[in-house]
Amino acid sequence: MDVFEALAARRTCRAFKPSPVPRATVEAILTAAGRAPSGGNLQPWRVWALAGEDLAALKGKVLGRIAAGQLTDGDYEYLIYPPQLKEPYLTRQFRNGEQLYGAMNIARDDAAGRMEQFRRNFELFGAPVGIFLAIDRTMDRPQWADLGMYLQSLLLAATARGLSTAALESWSLQHRTVREHLAMPADLMLFCAVALGLPDEADPVNAIRAERAPLDEVAVLRGF
Ligand SMILES: Cc1cc2nc3c(=O)[nH]c(=O)nc-3n(C[C@H](O)[C@H](O)[C@H](O)COP(=O)(O)O)c2cc1C
Repeated sequence: MDVFEALAARRTCRAFKPSPVPRATVEAILTAAGRAPSGGNLQPWRVWALAGEDLAALKGKVLGRIAAGQLTDGDYEYLIYPPQLKEPYLTRQFRNGEQLYGAMNIARDDAAGRMEQFRRNFELFGAPVGIFLAIDRTMDRPQWADLGMYLQSLLLAATARGLSTAALESWSLQHRTVREHLAMPADLMLFCAVALGLPDEADPVNAIRAERAPLDEVAVLRGF
């Protein structure tokens, strides 16, 4: 699989099979992702990969909080979206929700159905591996861009190994619980979780192919 094929094949998987992923595969993916470039070669990413009972224990804590109605840890590490999302981003976000809930037959006014889909984020959609990405608080926008490159490298490396992934910033809403479980130093902040495993292709949620804006909406090519 070349990079173009991996880019085309990768998509957010929201239903996984429980089949375990060998530790050596996870090590290979994280090692490959570590080749991501970063300004000044700071490599400003920190990573925890959990499986088995350790992951089950973390999920149990987070799901327990959600069952108790504590959808967040009470504060935010960062704002997931700008408070005033403007066009064309607002429409893209709306379409994303439409596609997701449409694939799952969850109606717009079905608050319980939407809540259940939110909750599944914290089951990692059944994935056997959860990878948690963090960054030092002193880092600014350039290093966050580096972290994004690390994340995409990780997703593509997993794809090339025949695995599926979901990057989940929803996990930042439970950052305190994650921090405590991982004994994450206070100078780091949680960016997201990544669910990793084999996809359950029978689940209709995995049939979603999220739209993309046409090239001329996002790019200008001149002088060719
Ligand atoms: C950093 C990041 C965080 C994301 N967080 C979530 C999330 O919490 N829950 C979710 O269902 N999808 C999440 N997504 C998936 C996006 O919705 C998805 O990437 C987008 O709709 C494009 O679809 P695709 O990945 O299938 O191409 C996240 C994606 C990224 C890159």
